[in-house]
Amino acid sequence: MQTNTSSLQFDVKPNANPMPEAERLEAFKNLGFGTLFSDHMAIIRWSKGKGWHSAEIKAREAFAMDPAASVLHYAQAIFEGMKAYRTADGRAVLFRPDENARRFNDSARRLALPELPEADFLAAVEQLVRTDAKWIPSGEGSLYLRPFMFASESFLGVRPSTEVIFSVIASPVGPYFKGGAKPVNIWVSEKYTRAAPGGTGDVKCAGNYAASLVAQAEAYANGCDQVVFLDAAEHRWVEELGGMNVFFVMDDGSIVTPPLGGSILPGITRKSLIELAREQGLNVREEPYAFDQWQADVASGRLKEAFACGTAAVVAAIGSVKFSTGEFVINNRENGPVTTRLREALTSIQRGATNDSHGWVRELAGI
Ligand code: PLP
Ligand code: COI
Repeated sequence: MQTNTSSLQFDVKPNANPMPEAERLEAFKNLGFGTLFSDHMAIIRWSKGKGWHSAEIKAREAFAMDPAASVLHYAQAIFEGMKAYRTADGRAVLFRPDENARRFNDSARRLALPELPEADFLAAVEQLVRTDAKWIPSGEGSLYLRPFMFASESFLGVRPSTEVIFSVIASPVGPYFKGGAKPVNIWVSEKYTRAAPGGTGDVKCAGNYAASLVAQAEAYANGCDQVVFLDAAEHRWVEELGGMNVFFVMDDGSIVTPPLGGSILPGITRKSLIELAREQGLNVREEPYAFDQWQADVASGRLKEAFACGTAAVVAAIGSVKFSTGEFVINNRENGPVTTRLREALTSIQRGATNDSHGWVRELAGI
């Protein structure tokens, strides 16, 4: 392992019944998102008395959980999303994994969970990817990694758990949206908000996603792929999608994205795209953007493109936008030129096709 100084010793117990190669390769032919899983998982346990201990890589299996485990009652749970890629020249790489490790601890602090040293987070992820290296698809696919942590103590009082499980699972994935790289349709949630100032919107805790599901169901019922949330106070300012940040491209080539004000998740894709866009000479503004302005800008032709971005979704053009009293179309036929250029700039770094001048790619040597 490269810069890893984890002091944990992982007990690696290989899966005695891994998926046969032919079956795995057959499954790779038609990858969706998050339905197929690799042979192993990583686990590290924590208790108030012992700290982090019992690090293992073992066959992926169910957790035995007491019905009083506090996560089942009070949702003390956080997660991350990151990907391992197989480059065209055969290397295995991770994209900015240190950013995920850091954000995971931001989430842990907000949810009163114990922080996991970044080196231990990275060691668990890397050990799992090494063990399941043959699960990294080549070509367009990638191995989606899901580190997560939850309160496992059996206790019904409402206070931070004194026992916690950290785990990582891995899922070979293709496109997040069923339509692949086609523009997606977005539903604007006017009734439900995702996050409020002082809440948990700027961290990755399970409850944020639970709170978004009814709005996501409304999106599906209205023929849309994803939901975009407005701010909690005025229901006016565009914040982000259920699982992605959002960008707007104007006719003068400038780009606008909502600022991180405490209720928006600080996406690693968002941060990377801001940097790449600026390097391409584009003017990027992190400033509030109102939903009524969005409608007006589409009508006047000032807004040319919009896209959503995140680890799972990568960069997805927004084709049309629907809300309770109307809809408008941005471009349902194809991804716009700025969206396409930024997507290519990002994915060529992630997939090792471009020289990584930013130092964003961590190679896992020897697998
Ligand atoms: N916003 C939300 C609510 C998310 O769940 C995600 C995905 O992790 C993002 C934005 C994008 O973040 P990232 O680019 O770090 O994956
Ligand atoms: C990710 O992009 O990693 C997420 O966690 C978002 C979710 C839509 C899968």
